[in-house]
Amino acid sequence: MAELSTMYGTRLFDQPRHAAVRARLDAFVSRPAPLGLEIGFDHGMCILDRARRFPAQNHLGVELREARVEAAAANAPDNCLLLRIDARTLCVALLPDASIDWIYLLFPTPPSAPKRALLSREFAAGVSRVLKPGGVLWFATDVEALYREARSLFPWPDAPPPPLGVELSRRERVCRRDGIEVFRLCVQR
Ligand SMILES: C[S@@+](CC[C@H](N)C(=O)[O-])C[C@H]1O[C@@H](n2cnc3c(N)ncnc32)[C@H](O)[C@@H]1O
Repeated sequence: MAELSTMYGTRLFDQPRHAAVRARLDAFVSRPAPLGLEIGFDHGMCILDRARRFPAQNHLGVELREARVEAAAANAPDNCLLLRIDARTLCVALLPDASIDWIYLLFPTPPSAPKRALLSREFAAGVSRVLKPGGVLWFATDVEALYREARSLFPWPDAPPPPLGVELSRRERVCRRDGIEVFRLCVQR
């Protein structure tokens, strides 16, 4: 595991007010059930739907926007933990090795500056580290360049889809409404 103090502000999680978040994360991840992770869940429609549909699984979601986290967390069942954590910090340094069965990365924000980019070699190494062997990455974007980048960062065999609910994410709805092409990747570590 990477040195906590060196990655994306992980020193934050050594501070008392963030230590509680870390403790909740650690307790949730140690539960003995399959664990899915959704990155950038926004309003949480997809993860909340999956959490209700698949009660025997645990569902972890991270999102940067605090108001979104608070609103969605108010509706989360016991098998769903929604936290405000940068997914890069989470995957590179906070989660244990081989702890996640499925990662859902739906419509990552096209970066406005390199330091804001989610997709990078470092992030890909983190995703590879936290996925269990045979774990699945489910990725979607309407930005072809991001799809190509994801293909090159995760050059893994194609996989059957992970557990999916019926709710579409906000961006997926927009794409469907406006006839925008969606590029998908479903690969197995
Ligand atoms: C374009 S939106 C897509 C939201 C949703 N997944 C969808 O498909 O409609 C990207 C989301 O990822 C969140 N996000 C961006 N960078 C992130 C990061 N490093 N860690 C966690 N969430 C992030 C943003 O706040 C935003 O809600």
